[in-house]
Parts: sequence; C-alpha cells; structure tokens
Amino acid sequence: MSAALSAVGSRPLVDGEFPLFIEDFRAIAAMLHADAGIALSEAKATLMYSRLAKRLRTLGLRSFREYRALVASHEGGEERRQMLTALTTNLTRFFREPHHFEHLKTAVLPALLQEARRGGRVRLWSAACSTGQEPYSIALTILSLMPDAAGLDIKVLATDIDPAVLVEARAGVYEEASIEPVPSDLRKRWFNRATDARGKAGWSVAEDARRLVSFRELNLIGTWPMRGRFQAIMCRNVVIYFDEDTQVALWSRFMPMVEPGGHLYIGHSERLAGDAAWHFESAGITTYRRRTENRP
Ligand SMILES: C[S@@+](CC[C@H](N)C(=O)[O-])C[C@H]1O[C@@H](n2cnc3c(N)ncnc32)[C@H](O)[C@@H]1O
Repeated sequence: MSAALSAVGSRPLVDGEFPLFIEDFRAIAAMLHADAGIALSEAKATLMYSRLAKRLRTLGLRSFREYRALVASHEGGEERRQMLTALTTNLTRFFREPHHFEHLKTAVLPALLQEARRGGRVRLWSAACSTGQEPYSIALTILSLMPDAAGLDIKVLATDIDPAVLVEARAGVYEEASIEPVPSDLRKRWFNRATDARGKAGWSVAEDARRLVSFRELNLIGTWPMRGRFQAIMCRNVVIYFDEDTQVALWSRFMPMVEPGGHLYIGHSERLAGDAAWHFESAGITTYRRRTENRP
C-alpha cells in the first residue's frame, strides 16, 4: 500500500482526545452486538466516542486500543458491563405513547381485573423497562381501575439488560418534571414526596404500585427463565437498536409468550416482521392481538 493510502486508512473516525479508529469502532461494536444484539453503524461513531471517552479518562487509559483490549479480556468483565451501560440508550418517560395505556385501560384490563377479582392470575411484561417509568405506568393504569389491585394475583414483570437502570427503577424516585406526564389524579394519589439517592428532592412511587411490579435483569437475546404466558407484553423502543435478523428472531420468541387473544405493544417506529407477524392482528396503533386460531 502506498504511504498516501495508508495515511488515509489510518485517519481516525473521530479525532478527539482519544482518536477512535475504524478497527476500534468495529471491535467495540462487535462486542456490543454479541452481548446485547445492538447494531451500531459507523454513523454512530461520534456517539460511541462521546459515551466511552469518559470511561477511558476514568480508567486512566491512553487509547481506544487499550480500552478494547481491556473489555475483551477476562479481567475486563466489569468494564464490559459499564460499556454496555454507556452504549445503551435508556430514554423513557411515564405514559410514553399514551394510546397504549388507553388501550390497556379500556380494552384489556377490565376483563383481566374482573378475572383477578375472581381469583385469577394476571401477568404483564414490560420487556426493556429502562428506569421503570413504563412498568410503573402499567401499574398506575391498573390502580386507576382497581385501587386494591396490589392484594390480588396481579404482577407486572419488568426486565432490562442494564443493571444500572434497574437500580433506579427499583428505587422508584423521580424528579418533579419526569412525573408531569402522569394524569394529575394518579399523581396525587400514588406518589409521595421523597429524596433520591443523590439527596435531590423528588417523588416516590407509592408502595401499592411498587408491589405490583417485579424488576429482573434479563437480556432479550439470552435465555428467558419465565414459564407461563403473559396476557400483555410491552416491548417498546428497544428492537430499533437491533439488526433485522435479531428483530425477527425476537418477535417469534415473543409470540408463544403471549396468550392467544393477548396483546403485544411495540414502539412507534417498530414493525412486526417474519413468521410472528402472521400470528398477530392489528388492534390499534402499534398494538397487536395474538390470533386465537393456529396457522393452517
Ligand atoms: C430506549 S429504552 C426503552 C424503554 C421503554 N421500553 C420505553 O419505551 O420507554 C431501551 C432499553 O432497552 C434496553 N436494552 C437494550 N438492549 C437490550 C437487550 N438485549 N435486552 C434487554 N434490554 C435491552 C436498554 O438497557 C434500555 O433500557
């Protein structure tokens, strides 16, 4: 290779305090894909740089080459988890995509809650729950219809790959601005003044809402220990980060986890694809109902 070409070849993708070269980007992106199914295109090199440069500084490393050697090594297991935390996007909010909660409240929960009142079991799943606003919004929707629901056999399983977001989710303390999307009657009844782990004033989710939700660490592309089906699953704004094959594989794993006649809610920019698409019919905006008949 000529000197000129090799100089072009060695130009960093992002030229900052720690130059990020294409081979660094590819090695880190491959690890993220293997660990979480997340596909990062080269267009996300600046994002990778800005999220990981802090880690290099904290660890006193001099280059991304050193960093990728660390996270690929046996001793680098803890940093590999930190890398995952840094590279995942955790954006969420209470009652995000409110039409889903309206659908849950009017078309799904009334029958399920009646069933629970008669001693039945209700199981819902918030898959990729981030810092908890989604499963707590489900719990609040349940409580809006049945204030004593926490005493019945009703559970919202809330899972995420990232242990750091689950710590916040379990703490369940949110700043004032983040509870604004909660309808005011629910806000008044189911939140109490509190301080968060950093001593900042906020609002804590009431005990009855917490009792409805169980948080667990779970990788959607790993093994799922749950037995038994769910009457509704929310898996929103996570598969957009996965490549198409991973998305299709995931939808077909969700399919048997939803009871026939049960519902699957997905994010506004996501689409059901592959074999699973046949098993669901549309029941609203990015809302699907599992067909009760089997495929001929
Ligand atoms: C943008 S948030 C979406 C939160 C919520 N579902 C919502 O729509 O507001 C995406 C979440 O997916 C999680 N995530 C990413 N890859 C995952 C995987 N392989 N398994 C489980 N969770 C994953 C991230 O940690 C993050 O908390």
